[in-house]
Amino acid sequence: MTSLTKQNFSAASEDAINIQINHELQAAQVYLSLSAWAGHVNQALPGLEKFFRESAVEERGHAQKLIEYQNRRGGKVVLQTLQAPDSEWTSARNAIESTLQLEKDVNKGLLNLQKIAEENNDPQLCDFIETGYLEEQNESIKKLADLVNQLNRVGGDGLGLYLWDQNLLNQKTDNK
Ligand SMILES: [Fe+2]
Repeated sequence: MTSLTKQNFSAASEDAINIQINHELQAAQVYLSLSAWAGHVNQALPGLEKFFRESAVEERGHAQKLIEYQNRRGGKVVLQTLQAPDSEWTSARNAIESTLQLEKDVNKGLLNLQKIAEENNDPQLCDFIETGYLEEQNESIKKLADLVNQLNRVGGDGLGLYLWDQNLLNQKTDNK
Protein backbone atom coordinates (compact mmCIF):
# COMPACT_ATOMS: atom_id res chain seq x y z
CA MET A 1 0.00 0.00 0.00
CA THR A 2 1.38 3.42 -0.91
CA SER A 3 1.27 6.38 1.41
CA LEU A 4 2.68 9.90 1.46
CA THR A 5 4.80 9.39 4.56
CA LYS A 6 6.41 6.10 3.54
CA GLN A 7 10.18 6.33 3.15
CA ASN A 8 12.69 3.55 3.63
CA PHE A 9 10.00 1.44 5.25
CA SER A 10 9.87 -2.17 4.09
CA ALA A 11 6.82 -4.39 3.83
CA ALA A 12 8.64 -6.85 6.12
CA SER A 13 8.98 -4.19 8.83
CA GLU A 14 5.36 -3.18 8.41
CA ASP A 15 4.23 -6.80 8.84
CA ALA A 16 6.57 -7.39 11.78
CA ILE A 17 5.17 -4.33 13.59
CA ASN A 18 1.65 -5.69 13.17
CA ILE A 19 2.77 -9.04 14.57
CA GLN A 20 4.31 -7.29 17.56
CA ILE A 21 1.14 -5.27 18.14
CA ASN A 22 -0.62 -8.60 18.37
CA HIS A 23 1.94 -9.99 20.85
CA GLU A 24 1.44 -6.97 23.10
CA LEU A 25 -2.37 -7.19 22.94
CA GLN A 26 -2.22 -10.92 23.60
CA ALA A 27 -0.04 -10.25 26.63
CA ALA A 28 -2.60 -7.67 27.85
CA GLN A 29 -5.31 -10.30 27.43
CA VAL A 30 -3.36 -12.86 29.48
CA TYR A 31 -2.67 -10.30 32.24
CA LEU A 32 -6.36 -9.41 32.41
CA SER A 33 -7.22 -13.06 32.86
CA LEU A 34 -4.54 -13.43 35.52
CA SER A 35 -5.87 -10.38 37.33
CA ALA A 36 -9.39 -11.79 37.34
CA TRP A 37 -8.05 -15.11 38.63
CA ALA A 38 -6.11 -13.43 41.46
CA GLY A 39 -9.20 -11.45 42.49
CA HIS A 40 -11.43 -14.53 42.68
CA VAL A 41 -12.62 -15.42 46.18
CA ASN A 42 -10.61 -18.65 46.13
CA GLN A 43 -7.39 -16.71 45.68
CA ALA A 44 -8.23 -13.35 47.29
CA LEU A 45 -4.82 -11.88 46.45
CA PRO A 46 -5.47 -8.14 46.00
CA GLY A 47 -1.79 -7.30 45.48
CA LEU A 48 -1.40 -9.77 42.67
CA GLU A 49 -4.75 -8.70 41.21
CA LYS A 50 -3.54 -5.08 41.10
CA PHE A 51 -0.14 -6.01 39.74
CA PHE A 52 -1.62 -8.02 36.87
CA ARG A 53 -4.27 -5.37 36.15
CA GLU A 54 -1.57 -2.72 35.85
CA SER A 55 0.51 -5.04 33.69
CA ALA A 56 -2.45 -5.41 31.31
CA VAL A 57 -2.70 -1.61 31.01
CA GLU A 58 1.04 -1.44 30.39
CA GLU A 59 0.89 -4.03 27.58
CA ARG A 60 -2.00 -2.24 25.96
CA GLY A 61 0.08 0.93 26.09
CA HIS A 62 2.92 -0.88 24.31
CA ALA A 63 0.49 -1.90 21.56
CA GLN A 64 -0.84 1.66 21.30
CA LYS A 65 2.66 3.08 20.91
CA LEU A 66 3.36 0.63 18.06
CA ILE A 67 0.04 1.54 16.41
CA GLU A 68 1.02 5.22 16.48
CA TYR A 69 4.47 4.38 15.15
CA GLN A 70 3.03 2.30 12.30
CA ASN A 71 0.83 5.23 11.32
CA ARG A 72 3.73 7.70 11.55
CA ARG A 73 5.71 5.62 9.10
CA GLY A 74 2.79 5.33 6.70
CA GLY A 75 2.23 1.63 7.37
CA LYS A 76 -1.17 0.10 7.80
CA VAL A 77 -2.26 -1.30 11.14
CA VAL A 78 -3.87 -4.72 10.77
CA LEU A 79 -5.11 -6.29 13.99
CA GLN A 80 -5.44 -10.05 14.39
CA THR A 81 -7.68 -12.28 16.44
CA LEU A 82 -6.54 -12.79 20.01
CA GLN A 83 -6.43 -16.22 21.64
CA ALA A 84 -8.48 -17.04 24.69
CA PRO A 85 -6.02 -16.98 27.61
CA ASP A 86 -5.82 -19.57 30.37
CA SER A 87 -8.14 -18.91 33.25
CA GLU A 88 -6.83 -21.46 35.74
CA TRP A 89 -3.54 -21.38 37.59
CA THR A 90 -2.61 -23.69 40.42
CA SER A 91 -0.99 -21.13 42.72
CA ALA A 92 0.39 -17.59 42.89
CA ARG A 93 3.80 -19.04 42.07
CA ASN A 94 2.44 -20.86 39.04
CA ALA A 95 0.68 -17.67 37.88
CA ILE A 96 3.72 -15.44 38.21
CA GLU A 97 6.02 -18.04 36.65
CA SER A 98 3.74 -18.25 33.62
CA THR A 99 4.14 -14.50 33.05
CA LEU A 100 7.91 -14.87 33.08
CA GLN A 101 7.59 -17.14 30.05
CA LEU A 102 5.04 -14.80 28.48
CA GLU A 103 7.41 -11.83 28.76
CA LYS A 104 10.26 -13.86 27.34
CA ASP A 105 8.07 -14.66 24.34
CA VAL A 106 7.20 -10.97 23.90
CA ASN A 107 10.91 -10.21 24.10
CA LYS A 108 11.60 -12.77 21.37
CA GLY A 109 9.08 -10.94 19.17
CA LEU A 110 10.85 -7.62 19.81
CA LEU A 111 14.24 -9.10 18.99
CA ASN A 112 12.81 -10.49 15.77
CA LEU A 113 11.35 -7.11 14.87
CA GLN A 114 14.71 -5.53 15.58
CA LYS A 115 16.42 -8.06 13.31
CA ILE A 116 14.02 -7.37 10.46
CA ALA A 117 14.58 -3.62 10.87
CA GLU A 118 18.34 -4.21 10.68
CA GLU A 119 18.11 -6.48 7.64
CA ASN A 120 16.09 -3.80 5.89
CA ASN A 121 18.47 -0.98 6.83
CA ASP A 122 15.95 0.90 8.89
CA PRO A 123 17.91 2.66 11.67
CA GLN A 124 14.88 4.66 12.71
CA LEU A 125 12.86 1.54 13.51
CA CYS A 126 15.87 -0.04 15.24
CA ASP A 127 16.20 3.00 17.45
CA PHE A 128 12.49 3.05 18.24
CA ILE A 129 12.58 -0.58 19.38
CA GLU A 130 15.83 -0.25 21.29
CA THR A 131 14.99 2.88 23.23
CA GLY A 132 11.26 2.33 23.65
CA TYR A 133 11.02 -1.40 24.20
CA LEU A 134 14.06 -3.60 24.70
CA GLU A 135 15.32 -2.02 27.89
CA GLU A 136 11.88 -1.83 29.44
CA GLN A 137 11.24 -5.44 28.48
CA ASN A 138 14.40 -6.44 30.27
CA GLU A 139 13.29 -4.56 33.37
CA SER A 140 9.93 -6.38 33.36
CA ILE A 141 11.61 -9.76 33.11
CA LYS A 142 13.92 -8.86 36.01
CA LYS A 143 10.98 -7.64 38.08
CA LEU A 144 9.03 -10.86 37.50
CA ALA A 145 12.07 -13.01 38.29
CA ASP A 146 12.52 -11.03 41.54
CA LEU A 147 8.89 -11.67 42.44
CA VAL A 148 9.29 -15.41 41.82
CA ASN A 149 12.40 -15.55 43.99
CA GLN A 150 10.85 -13.47 46.76
CA LEU A 151 7.81 -15.72 46.76
CA ASN A 152 10.02 -18.81 46.91
CA ARG A 153 11.85 -17.27 49.86
CA VAL A 154 8.67 -16.77 51.89
CA GLY A 155 7.29 -20.18 50.96
CA GLY A 156 4.50 -19.36 48.54
CA ASP A 157 1.66 -20.05 50.98
CA GLY A 158 0.16 -19.04 54.31
CA LEU A 159 1.52 -15.97 56.05
CA GLY A 160 4.44 -15.69 53.63
CA LEU A 161 2.11 -15.44 50.66
CA TYR A 162 -0.10 -12.96 52.50
CA LEU A 163 2.83 -10.66 53.26
CA TRP A 164 4.23 -10.98 49.74
CA ASP A 165 0.84 -10.02 48.32
CA GLN A 166 0.41 -7.10 50.73
CA ASN A 167 3.82 -5.86 49.70
CA LEU A 168 2.71 -5.93 46.05
CA LEU A 169 -0.47 -4.10 46.96
CA ASN A 170 1.47 -1.30 48.59
CA GLN A 171 4.00 -0.88 45.82
CA LYS A 172 3.81 2.34 43.87
CA THR A 173 2.52 2.04 40.33
CA ASP A 174 4.95 2.88 37.55
CA ASN A 175 2.99 2.42 34.37
CA LYS A 176 4.90 3.03 31.18
FE1 LIG B 1 5.01 -5.25 26.30
